[in-house]
Amino acid sequence: PIVVLDFGSQYTQIIARKLREAGVYSEIVPYNERIEDILARTPRGIILSGGPASVYAADAYHPDEEIFNLGLPILGICYGMQLISQFFGGSVIPADHHEYGKAKLTFEKECEIFKDTNDGQTVWMSHGDKVDQLADGFEVIGTSENSPFAAIANEAERIYAFQFHPEVYHSEQGSLILKNFAKYICGCESTWNMGSFAKEQIKKIQDQVGNKKVLCGVSGGVDSSVVATLLAEAIGDQLIPVFVDNGLLRANEREQVEAMFKSRGVNLVTVDASETFLSRLAGVTDPETKRKIIGETFIEVFDIEAKKHDGIEFLAQGTLYTDVIESVSVKGPSKTIKSHHNVGGLPDWMTFELIEPLREIFKDEVRLLGLELGLPKDMIGRHPFPGPGLAIRVMGDVNKPDLELLRKADTIMLDVLHATGLYDKTWQAFTVLLNVKSVGVMGDNRTYDNTVCVRIVEATDGMTATFAHIPHDILETISRRIINEVDGINRVVYDISSKPPATIEWE
Ligand code: XMP
Repeated sequence: PIVVLDFGSQYTQIIARKLREAGVYSEIVPYNERIEDILARTPRGIILSGGPASVYAADAYHPDEEIFNLGLPILGICYGMQLISQFFGGSVIPADHHEYGKAKLTFEKECEIFKDTNDGQTVWMSHGDKVDQLADGFEVIGTSENSPFAAIANEAERIYAFQFHPEVYHSEQGSLILKNFAKYICGCESTWNMGSFAKEQIKKIQDQVGNKKVLCGVSGGVDSSVVATLLAEAIGDQLIPVFVDNGLLRANEREQVEAMFKSRGVNLVTVDASETFLSRLAGVTDPETKRKIIGETFIEVFDIEAKKHDGIEFLAQGTLYTDVIESVSVKGPSKTIKSHHNVGGLPDWMTFELIEPLREIFKDEVRLLGLELGLPKDMIGRHPFPGPGLAIRVMGDVNKPDLELLRKADTIMLDVLHATGLYDKTWQAFTVLLNVKSVGVMGDNRTYDNTVCVRIVEATDGMTATFAHIPHDILETISRRIINEVDGINRVVYDISSKPPATIEWE
């Protein structure tokens, strides 16, 4: 693959995606990944991402400098460019003007990396520092009005560096430039696709597992179903799929998931741990504490289940890149937004070794993979549902009566979305029970009841999202039906925030 070292740019994951779209496999690793671990991935080339820091700051993020001695092609983007310049003896200084937005790239030299792209193309700049003096062996290959060093290279060493961000949408021909880097500079072929991904992962699972057994947590959602299918192909009946009823599921969910797996001939083990989860959550109101309790309890349940079978050493989960990036600790280059249950919620005492084949890809890519593996369309189209379930959709204390109210509201909302065909057009739709009571009038009586919030969003990978512009008459039906049919709810509101600055879930 091409290995992308992540220095904390908000665009890092898009670099990897663009390469995959170009048919080239890539993996993102933390900026400080040890050289042995980088080499173990047998990279054809290395990309250094952008990042929010300054290379000359005392606590700047630096990679293992051995990467510069491997003789591999390297592409540095923004912060990555400044690291390259600094390492090879150039200088980096704060720019007089922060440059943000579109710029015109003028070629100074004909280079393979720019092949089939246009002189004068629009590129996207976003930086506060700039290279001031070129390092030895480097030359300018592109300039912009404000950046005399918009693109530099040491072609003999196959090292390239851009001040602009080729990966972002606004860099018109940036995808092609990244593809050129992979194809002409690194010698990668455009042969990678989701089928290759499936094959690679199956092989990797077989090598990792040997003749041991794997417990796979399944939820009925897309991610864990895809993981279970990959495992079933890789290791057959060494796989024990376990479905945990944590008491935080939606209405009839357990029955639906059991029926679905049964129809596919899978022997699902269902564990009812609802009392354990609910008793531990009683009285807990802090979102991160809820998440930690749930993450830990899942592992405890898996641990107890594993002891009933011989030789289970592994736990497989449907962790996605989005789960990872939002959960990484503040020690890393990005900040913790929330601890996704299967990443930041794992307890220290866990002894399972993890198998997470989807850890580096995005939801829409998982769906393509699911199609490739022959999963049914309606399963692939299922909206994401978070592992902590309804616990993070009941604000404040989680208790059975509130969960029951929320289930009823949720069922009605989903019913309307299915009936109007909007379910398949949206990324996610759910209801949140707000810890807010308000006054209403029903019949001739005063009510003082709960408020439900309807949240429907559009997204492609869940990293960003916008609230869905649902027609008002449909919102009206949802509201009227919930208030009429659910005792205890007298007000429905619609969430009109996007991510960022809000997140999709409320907790
Ligand atoms: P946020 O709320 O962070 O959510 O904007 C992004 C996407 O991730 C889902 N989500 C989770 N999924 N475990 C999961 O498996 C979790 O702990 C978790 N928290 C959020 C969320 O539903 C949305 O699709």
